[in-house]
Amino acid sequence: MEFTINHQALAYLTAAVLFILGLKGLTHPSTARRGNLYAMFGMLLAIAATLLGRDIQSYGFIIAGIAGGAVIGVIVALRIQMTAMPQLVAALHSFVGLAAVLVGIGTFLHKQEAGLLNAVLMGEISAGVVIGAITFTGSVIAFGKLQGLLSGAPVKFAGQHLLNAILAFATIALAVHFAMTGSLLTLILMTLLAFTLGVTLIIPIGGADMPVIISMLNSYSGWAAAATGFTLHNDLLIIVGALVGCSGAILSFIMCKAMNRSIINVVFGGFGSDSGTGDNAGAQAAEKGVKSAAIEDAVYWMEDANRVIIVPGYGMAVAQAQHSLKELMELLEARGVEVKFAIHPVAGRMPGHMNVLLAEADIPYDRVLEMDEINPEFPSTDVVLVVGANDVVNPAAKEDKSSPIYGMPILEAGRARQVYFLKRSMRPGYSGVDNLLFYQDNTSLVFGDAKDTIDGMNSALKGSGH
Ligand code: TAP
Repeated sequence: MEFTINHQALAYLTAAVLFILGLKGLTHPSTARRGNLYAMFGMLLAIAATLLGRDIQSYGFIIAGIAGGAVIGVIVALRIQMTAMPQLVAALHSFVGLAAVLVGIGTFLHKQEAGLLNAVLMGEISAGVVIGAITFTGSVIAFGKLQGLLSGAPVKFAGQHLLNAILAFATIALAVHFAMTGSLLTLILMTLLAFTLGVTLIIPIGGADMPVIISMLNSYSGWAAAATGFTLHNDLLIIVGALVGCSGAILSFIMCKAMNRSIINVVFGGFGSDSGTGDNAGAQAAEKGVKSAAIEDAVYWMEDANRVIIVPGYGMAVAQAQHSLKELMELLEARGVEVKFAIHPVAGRMPGHMNVLLAEADIPYDRVLEMDEINPEFPSTDVVLVVGANDVVNPAAKEDKSSPIYGMPILEAGRARQVYFLKRSMRPGYSGVDNLLFYQDNTSLVFGDAKDTIDGMNSALKGSGH
């Protein structure tokens, strides 16, 4: 049977429905696996339908590209640590951006040769190239910051907003000129300006605002793909691009709301700072008037508690302490202690980071509560165990107007009777801000790798044989 254009349209429509079902599935951890399967099947269908289509002129390059990409993809997927996921996502966004730029320029050169250029097509090419170029360099900068290759501190200078505005207007003017004249020189200038704009837009963003930037670049990569879909007359690429663009934009708004930021501020403002250093934890803690405690102290309080809340953060991911935490939960529950997990929307380094890790350890979803649900429970809680979290419980966000995290809602761990921080040193969290909760009377720090500390707690609980 011949594979006609109608078959392809039907396959594309089915793939689009599968992508929507995939997104729907990803809205809850219990359906996320199924959502991923829908999306994977949709992508397989989309690739197969595209390869069987009539536009394909030669399979050689395509097969070589798929084979090379598949090998690299499998190696990266097997080797990547959960803690490095945000960088990986930023790197993947940069590929989408670069692909949009290359497809736009390639289409222009091809159609120019064939004498098939028109203003609408060139308008579409401009949109794809400009959004793609901003996405590419913006994502490269975000990758550099997240990977620690560039300083996480915001880079600010006088006249920055004016420079960005001039660059943006000049890029738009060149895009209009290109759509009207089809000049290759204008296309090149426009691309270079858009590359520059990607850099200048992202360098002032620092510290705690990175989550919003990741989701915003995700949105940009979607719009770049949608614009490329118009250039290539590929309906599925338009639909998929719009889905990614919209879901990224919605996520950015959710993250901004969670951090009490206006999206305009994040894009044009930028805040945060570099993290400090801090070895010799115990001595530094004493110097600063912070109490350090032994594992046994925390265990003593926890085994007699009615309620314990565990606040996981980025350090739990670094230490891979989720399985040990599951065991701790079971040991405490066996003693009649109620155990809950409190999740801040930006805990960790990517949206849903903590939920994924806790689900991996099979911690039941009903023990895992979001910030708004759990905050009223802290005052009636005996012990809060803060496992590798820092910024998300820092009262400076509420009390210190000069703090760069001021205004971000926090998990109100400090309102419990006892707070134990599990961390390795006196180093601050991602935003580089000292944590006021360390100095509160009811707070103690248990120094060490979170997994080792929790394993120690588990041994102590097993040994105490209640
Ligand atoms: P952070 O404030 O970054 O604090 C992490 C803490 O974990 C640090 O205090 C660190 O202290 C400790 N730690 C690291 N490795 C550890 C280990 N092996 N064992 C024990 N402790 C360890 O984390 P958070 O509270 O989860 O807050 C997240 C921050 O990241 C926010 O500022 C947020 O805006 C930002 N951010 C979030 C995202 C997303 S989307 N979630 C993306 C980018 C940035 P030591 O070094 O002393 O151990």
